[in-house]
Amino acid sequence: MRTRPLKVALLGCGVVGSEVARIMTTDAADLAARIGAPVELAGIAVRRAGRPRPGVPEHLITTDAEALVGRGDIDVVIEVVGGIEPSKHLILAAFEHGASVVSANKALLAKDGAELHSAAAEAGVDLYYEAAVAGAIPLIRPLRESLAGDRVNRVLGIVNGTTNFILDKMDSTGAGYSEALEEATALGYAEADPTADVEGFDAAAKAAILAGIAFHTKVTAADVYREGLTEVTAADIASAKAMGCVVKLLAICERAVDGESVTARVHPAMIPLSHPLASVREAYNAVFVEAEAAGRLMFYGPGAGGAPTASAVLGDLVAVCRNKLNGATGPGHSVYTQLPAKPMDQVITRYHVSLDVDDRAGVLAQVASVFAEHGVSIDTVRQQGRDGDASLVVVTHRATDAALSATVDKLRALDSVRDVASIMRVEGE
Ligand code: HSE
Repeated sequence: MRTRPLKVALLGCGVVGSEVARIMTTDAADLAARIGAPVELAGIAVRRAGRPRPGVPEHLITTDAEALVGRGDIDVVIEVVGGIEPSKHLILAAFEHGASVVSANKALLAKDGAELHSAAAEAGVDLYYEAAVAGAIPLIRPLRESLAGDRVNRVLGIVNGTTNFILDKMDSTGAGYSEALEEATALGYAEADPTADVEGFDAAAKAAILAGIAFHTKVTAADVYREGLTEVTAADIASAKAMGCVVKLLAICERAVDGESVTARVHPAMIPLSHPLASVREAYNAVFVEAEAAGRLMFYGPGAGGAPTASAVLGDLVAVCRNKLNGATGPGHSVYTQLPAKPMDQVITRYHVSLDVDDRAGVLAQVASVFAEHGVSIDTVRQQGRDGDASLVVVTHRATDAALSATVDKLRALDSVRDVASIMRVEGE
């Protein structure tokens, strides 16, 4: 084993960074044996020094991240700061100084992944980011390496633990969205400002990264259609139950059947209870991959939290250190297909449409004819009469989002339709 240590700069010492520092210290001998050289934590850059950081070597703390990255002897930079800047320029500086980078920064990779990959390739170093998508779950490496000889057609994932916890609570207790969010906040799943999670931004960034790797093309967060779960009601959840489904916030990345384009989207959807993703409860994540030769695969586990995310970071650290010792780099970005990302209105899926209508002769026929006019074929209709009005639940066969939107606009204009209570996509069949 080489005795000269590989030097690591850690940028960020929050929930994930402090776990990385702790494991690097306590498991130093094992990590060295697996890598073939000791790894030494050379410095830890933080925004504010002087905070209590139990288990983190105080003498390594600095507030000068730039100086740490640029000091000239760093082999690997671990970036667990998050956000676009200063992370981006620190990563680029690391490359310029010949350091490989391990990052957990989904927002940055979903925005500027292509640029960062080019910079890493030019510098002859690695950029690894297993922790950026679904925490501890090995996903980037299986997609990039294990499935590199296959053709991935679809990736369907629950990639945000906070929203899965909220939807699971609504499903298991009948609670409304606000009540379930309150519980998620009290238990520490949801942040004080939950926007990134509940509006789907976090999942959209992860979808962009997954789609890019799965389909060997460039997809950014801006290409991902996004709807959060704030509009999901207890009635939607009950309606899903009545048809043997459960509501999940899904990240869906698909290659078009003709292979000429891709789509990436994040939105709540009903999935049948028989689908493996339906059994993903609480704050767990899971990603279901459909590949031509491999068939259907599912990756499941904790998608967030200090220790699980640190596990993914350290796995990458071992990999990039091994590459360094071999004088090599791992697989880089593969974007040879250059498939355009299609807009949402061209996406084809099934829909659950819930209407409040007048309960009188001819209304069902009127509603059915609006679907027919727009070429949207009905699969099932469930009607329940109340005092003078009725609830009508229509589930369609596959249709484009554009056709469904036009159908709904027309339904809203009908005198007999009092309200379009909810529209939800149906996936996973
Ligand atoms: N906030 C995310 C979640 C974890 O709830 O899954 C970090 O991506």
